[in-house]
Amino acid sequence: MEHILDGMKSKKIKEKLNDMEKKNQHYSTQFPDVRVRVYSVSESLKHHLFFFKTVTGIFSFKQLDLGTKVFIEHMKIPEQGSILLDLGCGYGAIGIVLAYLKPKSTVYFTDINKRALWCAKENIRFNLSERIGKTILLQGSYFKPFENKSIKFDGVYMNPPLRKGRQEFLKLCEDVPRHLKSKGQFQFVIKRKMGAEYIQNYLTTHFSDLYETIEVTFKRSGYWIFCLTTK
Ligand SMILES: C[S@@+](CC[C@H](N)C(=O)[O-])C[C@H]1O[C@@H](n2cnc3c(N)ncnc32)[C@H](O)[C@@H]1O
Repeated sequence: MEHILDGMKSKKIKEKLNDMEKKNQHYSTQFPDVRVRVYSVSESLKHHLFFFKTVTGIFSFKQLDLGTKVFIEHMKIPEQGSILLDLGCGYGAIGIVLAYLKPKSTVYFTDINKRALWCAKENIRFNLSERIGKTILLQGSYFKPFENKSIKFDGVYMNPPLRKGRQEFLKLCEDVPRHLKSKGQFQFVIKRKMGAEYIQNYLTTHFSDLYETIEVTFKRSGYWIFCLTTK
């Protein structure tokens, strides 16, 4: 009898874990497969209070990810009039802070997840009312939305979806320089435990011909911020 109950319990636990997995991690799809619930997140970033609308099925919908927060506080931002990209924008925190601080720059937001992009649009409207004209949202995988467009960026910013595997991210690092201007910067954040050191070693060993410098510019709370600058 106990044995049967144990079996039932572990089935329930497995179902619960699967459910949690779905809710927390399966955000990197075009149409997430979880019921929509709306949340709100508020966060002080660069000495300004931002409000974000979020929904289930997107990354870190209950609170701003700590890696994203560390990244925003320490990312380098080029002068006004630059062309910037928040790649894999989620609900838009990185790009919104960039657009808030540099209202004369143009900030693109892209994500594969349609729900994330919907939230980013709402959040731009709410947080950047006078600056909306300089923001552009595009849905699609990585640089696909820019195919047949001759846009080159001064800066690409990212908290990458590393749960999809390091290889996919390293392939992206190889692709990014084609989309950057000369001396353009690709900045991103990696959790130490998700292989920051491996990524640093891989980049310096394999991509030093693609980038002029490959630097870790800041480390805090187990997060490493990278800045790769093109030639
Ligand atoms: C770690 S989350 C970061 C989200 C947001 N930038 C933040 O910091 O809160 C990674 C984001 O990349 C998006 N993503 C995953 N695969 C993608 C792809 N192939 N193309 C574009 N975005 C993708 C996910 O939907 C997710 O929003």
